[in-house]
Amino acid sequence: MEDTRGRITKDGIRIYEDVDFSGMRAAGRVAAEILDLVGPLVVPGVTTAALDDFITGEVTRRGVTSATIGYRGYQHASCISVNHVVCHGIPGAKVIKDGDILNIDVTVILDGWFGDTSRMYVAGNISRKAARLIEVTHDSLMKGIEAVKPGNTFGDIGFAIQSYVEAQRMSVVRDFCGHGLGRVFHSPPNVLHYGRPGVGAVLEEGMFFTIEPMVNLGRPETKVLADDWTAVTRDKSLSAQYEHSIGVTAEGAEIFTLSPGGLYKAAFKG
Ligand code: MF3
Ligand code: CO
Ligand code: CO
Repeated sequence: MEDTRGRITKDGIRIYEDVDFSGMRAAGRVAAEILDLVGPLVVPGVTTAALDDFITGEVTRRGVTSATIGYRGYQHASCISVNHVVCHGIPGAKVIKDGDILNIDVTVILDGWFGDTSRMYVAGNISRKAARLIEVTHDSLMKGIEAVKPGNTFGDIGFAIQSYVEAQRMSVVRDFCGHGLGRVFHSPPNVLHYGRPGVGAVLEEGMFFTIEPMVNLGRPETKVLADDWTAVTRDKSLSAQYEHSIGVTAEGAEIFTLSPGGLYKAAFKG
């Protein structure tokens, strides 16, 4: 769909109006609610296809549209990325087993607005290293969001994430990034999860984008499998990711995809 709202900065980033925040709020909430609901289904023995079927059902039941079904040939309502899968894991016959960690990423369209969010889930008892990876990844996203305010730059966001992650002796994936969104799925800018302070486009009130850091226990390099979607760590190390859709406000950031149930820490129960 053509996006004609607001204006475009010299960096090609759309600036939305106050009223547009309510559209993003509604779309983001639906995506986050679906991520809340799928949590109890993530147990050893479930297939990733069953998790995706549940998500498809929730999308239908709520009368929203999946942004991923039909996107560049993708055929599922979610991406489910298990263990060393970095992102874009395709739901299928794979059976989740005790100790697995997985990211579930859902994007819905409500009244033309896109809500894009992902979270980590765990099956059964996970290793302390895996729990630590999940915690660091979540905290890196929140540190990135804390760097969001008018006048700061996208480099400030990347630096906040990278410096925190690397201090924990983990690595930030370079091959995938966050993105502008609003009434389209992916638009400028590329939101890098690494960077240097003061570098890059300047943040302005009314920008909508995702931050979605992928963090590896080992090296940052990835490769895409023959299915043309599944991205994995080259060294087979564990990878985690969290994603929020946010809007820049006068004071900082509004997170559109906060868990209504506050369920992030569910990942650490194991
Ligand atoms: N939701 C993903 C993102 O964060 C994109 C998934 S595209 C798909 O941008 F086709 F793989 F679903
Ligand atoms: Co995204
Ligand atoms: Co996403």
